Amino acid sequence: MINALGTPQSLLLLGGTSDIALAVARRYAGRGAGLRVVLAARPGERRSAAAAELGALGCAVEEVDLDARDHASHAATVDAAFAGGDVDVAVLAFGLLGDPETDWTDPELALELAEVNFAAPVHLGVLLGNRMRAQAHGRIVALSSVAGERVRRSNFVYGSTKAGFDGFFLGLGEALREHGVHVLVVRPGFVRTKMTEGLSEAPLAVTADDVADAVLAGVQDQRDLVWVPKPMRFVMSGLRHVPRPLFRKLPL
Ligand SMILES: NC(=O)c1ccc[n+]([C@@H]2O[C@H](COP(=O)([O-])OP(=O)(O)OC[C@H]3O[C@@H](n4cnc5c(N)ncnc54)[C@H](OP(=O)(O)O)[C@@H]3O)[C@@H](O)[C@H]2O)c1
Repeated sequence: MINALGTPQSLLLLGGTSDIALAVARRYAGRGAGLRVVLAARPGERRSAAAAELGALGCAVEEVDLDARDHASHAATVDAAFAGGDVDVAVLAFGLLGDPETDWTDPELALELAEVNFAAPVHLGVLLGNRMRAQAHGRIVALSSVAGERVRRSNFVYGSTKAGFDGFFLGLGEALREHGVHVLVVRPGFVRTKMTEGLSEAPLAVTADDVADAVLAGVQDQRDLVWVPKPMRFVMSGLRHVPRPLFRKLPL
């Protein structure tokens, strides 16, 4: 169970090699030894390194296979994650940025983004929601993006998958509220992680640690929605209402 300070006893990272997810795990691990962390990710060096690092921080780490595109395997992934006991906080962090100009002309790449960023999170979100309803407590942290808040020409395949993702998890939060389960939707702007390596930085860029701080505060305060950094909320509320002919001309 989560204690009064908002610290969980167990943490599930769906996307257990994500830089942001691991920053969240480090923050929770720093609050005391004995945290059970389930790293659900594709097997490989990145997952092993993450498990070793969190183990050295005093966490009891379990590794579980997750392949976002293999929908038939998702139920087994979630079963394995709950086999060791209740999950207090589950972070949905897997995702693909893709290459915007290739994605909208290559049907296979567009489908991959839609499956990894939208279909798989919906499928796993329902599986997680059912489990958390049954245990009558828990928090789901869904890593959305400001890119989904107003989809723009420059990355509309990614943006549209995040728009769907965002809407689904906001709705799931409403549905689960009466069952004692909370969903936190997180909308970061540009985050310096391996996902954005080599790209030119957007204004208001943040680090994975900044996102982790916002996640921990949002979980503790039982927030439904947070922007990272906070001023991004006001930027986006302005951009959302810019008329389309003008929006098209903005350097976004
Ligand atoms: N970085 C940003 O600027 C930014 C901004 C807003 C939102 N976000 C969102 O935040 C989340 C975490 O991003 P991040 O910056 O931490 O990126 P990251 O470090 O690149 O992590 C992405 C994760 O997705 C996993 N993944 C990709 N395809 C998968 C598949 N088919 N099956 C299973 N796992 C798969 C990767 O696993 P492998 O290790 O196996 O490749 C990796 O764990 C993503 O949903 C992203 O869209 C990021």
